[in-house]
Amino acid sequence: MAKNHGILVVDVGTTKICAMVGEFKEDGLWITGMGVSPSYGLKKGVVIDIEEATTSIREAVDKALTQSKADLDKLITYTSIAGTHIKTTSGMGTKVLKEQEVTYEDVRDAIEIAQAGSKSEDRRILHALPKEFVIDHQKGIINPVGMTGKRLEVHVNLITCNASTLQNLLRCFQKLGLEVNGVVFQGLASAEAVLTPEEKDLGVIVIDFGGGTTDVVAYWNGVLRLAFSLPVGGELLTNDLAIGLRTSKQIAEEIKKEKGVCLRELVNGDEIIEVPGIGNRPVRKVNRQFIAEILELRVKELFELVARELKKYMLEETGKLDIRSKFGSGIVLTGGSSQLPGLILTVDQMFDLPTRIGLPSNLNGIGDEILAPQFSTAVGMFYYAKTELESEEFDFPEGGLLEKLKRAFGKFFKK
Ligand SMILES: Nc1ncnc2c1ncn2[C@@H]1O[C@H](COP(=O)(O)OP(=O)(O)OP(=O)(O)O)[C@@H](O)[C@H]1O
Ligand SMILES: [Mg+2]
Repeated sequence: MAKNHGILVVDVGTTKICAMVGEFKEDGLWITGMGVSPSYGLKKGVVIDIEEATTSIREAVDKALTQSKADLDKLITYTSIAGTHIKTTSGMGTKVLKEQEVTYEDVRDAIEIAQAGSKSEDRRILHALPKEFVIDHQKGIINPVGMTGKRLEVHVNLITCNASTLQNLLRCFQKLGLEVNGVVFQGLASAEAVLTPEEKDLGVIVIDFGGGTTDVVAYWNGVLRLAFSLPVGGELLTNDLAIGLRTSKQIAEEIKKEKGVCLRELVNGDEIIEVPGIGNRPVRKVNRQFIAEILELRVKELFELVARELKKYMLEETGKLDIRSKFGSGIVLTGGSSQLPGLILTVDQMFDLPTRIGLPSNLNGIGDEILAPQFSTAVGMFYYAKTELESEEFDFPEGGLLEKLKRAFGKFFKK
């Protein structure tokens, strides 16, 4: 396989495109290039103008390649997707066992059968994640390999997306002559970058609070249970501020980043901010509490939407609306908007769950620049891509099929 020198990840966000090049060296994957460009032609996570999106992607990719000096022909490309069209559904696959002893190939076949049974014309399966195995009616099996029986059943969670929305995204890469090897749901990638295996075991909710979307994934017992993407993010906060302060979006964005806070109680009552007027209108003086009030209202509304989706799922799965019981590790916030002061406290109070900010865990290479929540998705895409490539027949130094499958299915072969 020629293309095994490295990975090019391109996180296609609503406000920025982030491309990173990772190259395989003797001691692992090194990030050797990074390029960020403003994102045009996207709305709420979805490509709405192929020409504009292609230009934005090209700019980020060019920057990353220039910095890395890697040969594009030797890189395997991954991109990311989000938007309200992302859905989680369940699937089931069964395989009659020839040898009566479950092998890794049986597991792989059963997962493929589960996917085949859920295919439809207008949807594409992005991820098939095993929840549980059943052998001859014995439920709750985590790792079936080596067990005996006549029939293996796998229950999977499938993260699916709209086929034409995916096609529009891939069209941008096609126009750049880039062959895409894999597409990752942005929320899943972010979770890969910011979570520990212990958090996934204990139960955790990751919320990637971005610019145009808020992507959510929830795990317990080490298994992904739910993934969804809401069409709301930091852009809404900026819009609200622009309207409330009667100023431009650009100024509102600056004020949000420099003086924004989403809890009134954290602001001193007599702090005054100067807001430049639009055109030749005079500068206006505004109490910072007013800014906090605008942001607080919107943030609470957005996180109410997240809570509503989670409650709906909990009701279906457990018969109860209670979110807290399953998520002992609480909530991990990431994405650019997670930097808003006051957000941790707000979310902690709303969900009554311990909340922290998730920064992408470090990879070797270009330094601390990538250790910011807006880069969680891109960094997580490396973890995802690496695992996927190792499970395929790529020419990796270590590990036979057993090791590869262990990495591919993570938890299921850990014990
Ligand atoms: N310090 C800050 N305080 C508040 N918001 C911030 C701060 N820094 C960045 N943001 C906001 O983060 C958002 C961008 O986040 P991010 O880069 O994660 O989004 P994206 O990946 O481009 O979009 P998406 O994933 O939603 O499609 C913008 O709305 C920006 O205003
Ligand atoms: Mg994003």
